[in-house]
Amino acid sequence: MGGARAVGWAAAGLVLGAGACYCIYKLTRGQRQGGRGLRLRPSRSAEDLTNGSYDDVLNVDQLQKLLSLLESVDDPVITERALVTLGNNAAFSANQVIIRELGGIPIIGSKINNPNHSIKEKALNVLNNLSVNVDNQVKIKVYISQVCQDVLSGPPDSAVQLAGLRLLTNMTVTNEHQHMLSKYITDLFHVLLTGNGSTKVQVLKLLVNLSENPAMADGLLGAQVDSSFLSLYDGHVAKEILLRVLTLSQNINNCLKKEGCLAIQPFPKGSLFFLLYGEECAQKMRALAEHHDADVKEKVTVLPKF
Ligand SMILES: *[C@@H]1O[C@H](CO)[C@@H](O)[C@H](O)[C@H]1NC(C)=O
Ligand SMILES: *[C@@H]1O[C@H](CO)[C@@H](O)[C@H](O)[C@H]1NC(C)=O
Ligand SMILES: *[C@@H]1O[C@H](CO)[C@@H](O)[C@H](O)[C@H]1NC(C)=O
Ligand SMILES: *[C@@H]1O[C@H](CO)[C@@H](O)[C@H](O)[C@H]1NC(C)=O
Ligand SMILES: *[C@@H]1O[C@H](CO)[C@@H](O)[C@H](O)[C@H]1NC(C)=O
Ligand SMILES: *[C@@H]1O[C@H](CO)[C@@H](O)[C@H](O)[C@H]1NC(C)=O
Repeated sequence: MGGARAVGWAAAGLVLGAGACYCIYKLTRGQRQGGRGLRLRPSRSAEDLTNGSYDDVLNVDQLQKLLSLLESVDDPVITERALVTLGNNAAFSANQVIIRELGGIPIIGSKINNPNHSIKEKALNVLNNLSVNVDNQVKIKVYISQVCQDVLSGPPDSAVQLAGLRLLTNMTVTNEHQHMLSKYITDLFHVLLTGNGSTKVQVLKLLVNLSENPAMADGLLGAQVDSSFLSLYDGHVAKEILLRVLTLSQNINNCLKKEGCLAIQPFPKGSLFFLLYGEECAQKMRALAEHHDADVKEKVTVLPKF
């Protein structure tokens, strides 16, 4: 342990002090460990790789170097820089595969537990970019519960909360892993109602994704939701929010219409079901049918008549 820390500390010191030395150290270490038969190009020092202005696409060896650095270093500044560089590189589909094959996802994933919110946020951003690849999603899904808990307990409207919500949204673009969010739905509605505009939009993207999956309809309709939810259907609400809550209604309706989609079960009092199918919601829909915005009107007309 002491040895590993010393190496991490030394690495950090060298990176800060003299990138070139660190690079040589890293390259020899890489050759010893790797055995990948790939030729290392000592063209860039680790300092260059992490200084945030690096805009080239990194090759396999450089990505390996960066991951080793991330694994061994304690310094928050270097950790953050390494994550940012990895995030930029994770925007490229080839790199999404390489980072997974190098075993990078658990290394990056471990950083979401970092107490430093800035590092946590950057790690979530990297995972988000990596999550575009479905095979990566299989590795990233182990962090879903942790991310949900962080989103629910994190500072409201913070960058780290938004980063978590974005990751959850991208992990739910397919139905595959959505069930893992089931037990957090009621709490997500709470975040929706208490968050500011940016947070609301992001939570709604997530809930809309869930609402497209018939298997999630029971969980959504049964969620305990404060009646202030209906104020999101007021005419003056920002269009990007209004259109999304209408899409949510529409998707849930489609599920209810489809036979066999929904286990017929009594939903508890105070649930979303009672809000969406109550008189107050019907009134709001009638008002929205006269809305000045054509997109909003159109959404309302495809909903069943109230
Ligand atoms: C990052 O590295 C590049 C290339 O060595 C250098 O031109 C640039 O000034 C550095 N930027 C910072 C912020 O250190
Ligand atoms: C968190 O990390 C950032 C970015 O590296 C650093 O500037 C900041 O000092 C760290 N905060 C704490 C409390 O360690
Ligand atoms: C993620 O990828 C996008 C491009 O898809 C890029 O613009 C963005 O900077 C990347 N995010 C991070 C955190 O690196
Ligand atoms: C998240 O998913 C959306 C929708 O599929 C996509 O447009 C976006 O690029 C993804 N975000 C990242 C950071 O890859
Ligand atoms: C929400 O709050 C965050 C953090 O205070 C802020 O950066 C963001 O601009 C706010 N968004 C809106 C739409 O008010
Ligand atoms: C999930 O949400 C994203 C972003 O809003 C969207 O691009 C995507 O089509 C949605 N996927 C599903 C299955 O609803």
